[in-house]
Amino acid sequence: MAKLQQQHSNAAGWAPPSVQKRWLLTLLIMLSVSTLIAFFIKSAFDSCDPPHPHNFDVAASNKPAKVFSNSIKTAPSPLSFMKSKLVLLVSHELSLSGGPLLLMELAFLLRSVGTEVFWITIQKPSETDEVVYSLEQKMLVRGVQVLSAKGQEAIDTAFKADLVVLNTAVAGKWLDAVLKENVPHVLPKVLWWIHEMRGHYFKLDYVKHLPLVGGAMIDSHVTAEYWKNRTQERLRIKMPETYVVHLGNSKELMEVAEDSVAKRVLREHIRESLGVRDEDILFAIINSVSRGKGQDLFLRSFYESLQIIQLKKLKVPSMHAVIVGSDMSAQTKFETELRNYVTQKKIQDRVHFINKTLTVAPYLAAIDVLVQNSQARGECFGRITIEAMAFQLPVLGTAAGGTTEIVVNGTTGLLHSVGKEGVTPLAKNIVKLATHVERRLTMGKRGYERVREMFLEHHMANRIASVLKEVLRKSKSHPHS
Ligand SMILES: *[C@@H]1O[C@H](CO)[C@@H](O)[C@H](O)[C@H]1NC(C)=O
Ligand SMILES: *[C@@H]1O[C@H](CO)[C@@H](O)[C@H](O)[C@H]1NC(C)=O
Ligand SMILES: *[C@@H]1O[C@H](CO)[C@@H](O)[C@H](O)[C@H]1NC(C)=O
Repeated sequence: MAKLQQQHSNAAGWAPPSVQKRWLLTLLIMLSVSTLIAFFIKSAFDSCDPPHPHNFDVAASNKPAKVFSNSIKTAPSPLSFMKSKLVLLVSHELSLSGGPLLLMELAFLLRSVGTEVFWITIQKPSETDEVVYSLEQKMLVRGVQVLSAKGQEAIDTAFKADLVVLNTAVAGKWLDAVLKENVPHVLPKVLWWIHEMRGHYFKLDYVKHLPLVGGAMIDSHVTAEYWKNRTQERLRIKMPETYVVHLGNSKELMEVAEDSVAKRVLREHIRESLGVRDEDILFAIINSVSRGKGQDLFLRSFYESLQIIQLKKLKVPSMHAVIVGSDMSAQTKFETELRNYVTQKKIQDRVHFINKTLTVAPYLAAIDVLVQNSQARGECFGRITIEAMAFQLPVLGTAAGGTTEIVVNGTTGLLHSVGKEGVTPLAKNIVKLATHVERRLTMGKRGYERVREMFLEHHMANRIASVLKEVLRKSKSHPHS
């Protein structure tokens, strides 16, 4: 009887009450622990952050296996041809920021199909660093071999490797510094993964070997186009074969996003901690706080939307703005400016600042609309956007960068222009979504469908697999290797 009941409840996506309580509790503990730890994500890539790191969960091993295990299906991985191949991953740095964590995801995808994976971190802090240590431990446990960036072993491994993945533009410095006269032998099997779109990365020092590498892999079409233009116009060098690989949501994130019980509990928990009611509408930016991410302009739009509502006497629930990604110690001037604005406009009770955190799922569960307000050229990709869509949230985004490749204007969200010209359009879009509940929910659902169609981990793995295949094929036919 008990057995029957359990089977039945699993099929319906529900666990028996006792199990349910236990894993919900675990999620809440994870949440409070990660809030306590309050990881500071270095914003090394200001205007064009690599995809948000958080869903690469440092606390993943704490996850209750019972609930999360049944979705691990065993479809053959598109990467299975990488079995027994030797891959060297070269990371500019090792921290809880998007670039390195994404490369770690690739490391684990490759390990899961039996690839021999070596890892090099170019820039390490001189004294022992807790984050570096724990990330390296995490890799070692999963069979990734961590090497020193310099020395004979690094050179030998680069020679032996079937493939060398350089992560971020800056990692190019490693080639000359370590391989020296051997660089030309290694270049044909180098795949360069680029997540940046800022002017200062277009330095010959970093990227002069680009024309001769096996390929470049870039997160969005806009970013790829930008690299093509800039390298040609500024540096007079030609990009190698370039592959656009949109990112995908991790399985862990999708599991929480698709679990209505988990979402409800997280939503209640976060709303309670913010002191907002269930019926209030929450608009949130989840990005490290900096001018490039446009929190200042968002607050102006938010204030303007409140004025529109007041002026037109519109009936809407109480509205709140949530800014997740605060770090008073890093962007003191900008953060102070934001807080002064809030005080000056007397909207303190409607604006909530939350420190940087790797665990964004609870916030995605708690809010109603994601605002992606990245300025200038926008995001290279903007992983938080597809994560929000997984949670069935509509997105109000700037019509720039990767956002335009993710959000379908009018269907899964609404786009506004970057800069001051975007402030009023965003304010109007905020009012639109606040007053049209049905439209908001429909957009959220469409966003979710789009994620299921295009932005899952297996989509990303498929795209990466075809790139790796191509680069391997070409490097094999190259005279040097
Ligand atoms: C690249 O250059 C072409 C032609 O000059 C231009 O049409 C396009 O907008 C540019 N793209 C980017 C991303 O700068
Ligand atoms: C947020 O970070 C600041 C330091 O920048 C710290 O003083 C504060 O206690 C943190 N708040 C929470 C809730 O962790
Ligand atoms: C987005 O769509 C709306 C209509 O739904 C249109 O008014 C607006 O100009 C579009 N914005 C962009 C950036 O395409």
